[in-house]
Amino acid sequence: MTESLKQLRLQATKELSAVSTLEQLDEFVLNYFGRKQGQLTHVLRSLKVMDESQRKILGKEANDVKIEIWRLIDDKRNSIKKAGKKEFIDLTIDGDKPQLGHLHPVTQIRREVESIFRSLGFAVMEGPEIESDYYNFEALNIPKDHPARDMFDTFYVNNSSNMVLRTHTSPMQARIMENHKPPFSVIVPGRVFRHEATDARHEHTFDQIEGLVVGENISMANLKWTLDTLVKKLFGDEIETQYRPSYFPFTEPSVEILMSCIFCGKKGCSICGRSGWLEVLGAGMVHPKVFEYAGYPKDKYTGFAFGLGILRFAMLKYNIPDIRMFHQNDVRFLHQF
Ligand code: FA5
Repeated sequence: MTESLKQLRLQATKELSAVSTLEQLDEFVLNYFGRKQGQLTHVLRSLKVMDESQRKILGKEANDVKIEIWRLIDDKRNSIKKAGKKEFIDLTIDGDKPQLGHLHPVTQIRREVESIFRSLGFAVMEGPEIESDYYNFEALNIPKDHPARDMFDTFYVNNSSNMVLRTHTSPMQARIMENHKPPFSVIVPGRVFRHEATDARHEHTFDQIEGLVVGENISMANLKWTLDTLVKKLFGDEIETQYRPSYFPFTEPSVEILMSCIFCGKKGCSICGRSGWLEVLGAGMVHPKVFEYAGYPKDKYTGFAFGLGILRFAMLKYNIPDIRMFHQNDVRFLHQF
């Protein structure tokens, strides 16, 4: 390659590396390839006047340099364009939706039950999960060594015989009566605990909703209307209920309320213990002894109370064959609600 061509290539490469804008690049192109003053144009044009043998050698070399410089120019143009490109967000393209969580089925049904009771004029209150022996048992007419304590398999706290994980929401009956003058209607949703073997219908930790209505002339008919209304609003008119005599030390008379088993249509299955019915509620008229513990005047008030198992309601509502599924936290299960 001739010395002057080598020089020109070196100079062009150097100048090009200093170029940083498209305007400078256009200027560079003009400077080397412009028709009139282009330095390479000039070299190529000078070939015409050379003799053939010289033209062949120099022509090829000059052409190679031309091709090389155009390639560098193209690269430069691309890199300038790329550097100048701003990030562009296309708002019309569908993005990935983040997965939103939702309420646990037990919370959903608890809220539904709460709203039904609110519509009936009930207030909603909550109470402590760790209770004293007094509120969990004694104030509910279950003195120490009373055989009814066997009904509630109890977790004691720190081996203390005075503090327990509440076995039901009924202790709130005593707490509410201590602080409120009738008439009132209250429900108390909350978690309760029992030292029980688990099976398809029994959990050691489950949710109850306590209900308490106290006033003058409150009767068993009021109890039945209230609970039938709840069941019909939750499950529809076709669900049947059964009221059976039962025993609780804090109510007299006491009833247990069963709902027809939706799993087998009352034929009897493993979920309802082959009976066709599932027990969902314990209830009764408040025992006069409980009023006495609360310090209410004798024979002035009557009232009814009930305790319903929310997980049992949820089983029936959502067709869930095993109560233990609610606390397993299997997302395949939870996603369905
Ligand atoms: C009671 O807990 C009483 N406190 C209910 C009550 C309140 C009666 C007010 C009278 C007046 P019982 O142990 O039957 O009663 O439980 C009430 C409801 O809780 C049952 O009908 C059932 O729906 C639910 N339940 C009871 N044990 C379990 C368990 N191991 N797992 C899930 N749900 C349960």
